[in-house]
Amino acid sequence: MDKENKSLDKLETRKILLSGVKPSGHPHIGNYFGAMKQFVALQDDYESYIFIADLHALTIVQNKEQMNNYIYNIAVDYLAIGLNPEKVVLYKQSDIPQVSEMAWIFNCITTMPFLMRAHAFKDAEAKNKEINVGVFGYPILMAADILLPGADVVPVGNDQKQHVEFARDIAQKFNNIFGKTFKLPEPMIFENIGTIIGTDGQKMSKSYQNTIELFATDEELNKAIMGIVTDSKDVKDKKEPEKCNIFNLHKLFSPDEELKDLRDRYVNGKIGYKESKEVLLKNVVDFIKPIREEREKIQKNREYILDVLENGGKKAEKKISEKMEEVRTKIGLSLK
Ligand code: ADP
Ligand code: TRP
Repeated sequence: MDKENKSLDKLETRKILLSGVKPSGHPHIGNYFGAMKQFVALQDDYESYIFIADLHALTIVQNKEQMNNYIYNIAVDYLAIGLNPEKVVLYKQSDIPQVSEMAWIFNCITTMPFLMRAHAFKDAEAKNKEINVGVFGYPILMAADILLPGADVVPVGNDQKQHVEFARDIAQKFNNIFGKTFKLPEPMIFENIGTIIGTDGQKMSKSYQNTIELFATDEELNKAIMGIVTDSKDVKDKKEPEKCNIFNLHKLFSPDEELKDLRDRYVNGKIGYKESKEVLLKNVVDFIKPIREEREKIQKNREYILDVLENGGKKAEKKISEKMEEVRTKIGLSLK
């Protein structure tokens, strides 16, 4: 009880961090180093809310089994890398009906030309895609996600920065019409982490099929790493480590001493790409094996995962429903 009170005290003084993760595939090491790892690293410093953006995924994933699997797996992934449900409120967006209610209210104060400025919408339009209303209103739902729990910071990749700025604009508009209600959130971009490069030298991304999956089996890792694209230099040729796709990955996985040694051997023509890949493979396996095993353990415990999401949902709803009541009163829907 004492311990619980202490952690609640701590919760109240910290800034609020919130981020959503779309359940739409297996995470790769670019996702891990670029985003997931930071959620874990920051869980003590912020009152953190990490949720599974299943309603957002519905704009693309329209199959019951697939949606079920993606949601479940993403919860397992986050727990396996060390997100602690005692410290972080981990929940499913669709478990909080107030989010959809808030999105509707935001719909009514947001103009179409404003939403037409969204990069995601413009890209879809440029590609002549059939755009569902969910895609068009995507930033509105995201504003509801962010503003209802009162996020101060929203860690996202560069591609999502505009959406957080939209949430700020929508908060301002609401505050102007109905009086100060919402805090203005800030995007938190991990610029210094940079972009993790995939096995073909482009940005690592699910869309380019150049990924190393975070929970890959040893065989899959072997295939991905041995398939890294290099130039055709021989063992004895001097090589530029910074231009090498293998070396870029060594920087994430190889200990400092070994990295220094590898760099020397690269510039002096004392290592071939095959050996460099073998060293990398060993280090990647050493890193991934324990989290993969942890994942396998957690995955089997369906009851535990569902409990985590249910408890997280209750905590999130408690926080969110207070704000929702305030909104209903301010806009005149509540007669109390
Ligand atoms: P993908 O491009 O593989 O579809 P997502 O768009 O789902 O990845 O990205 C999820 C999170 O991972 C975002 O915060 C994004 O910025 C981060 N991320 C994705 N790819 C990389 C990468 N190659 N390097 C660093 N961060 C990345
Ligand atoms: N749109 C984000 C993505 O595609 C996911 C997301 C939904 C999100 N709601 C959010 C991220 C709120 C941060 C805050 O990755």
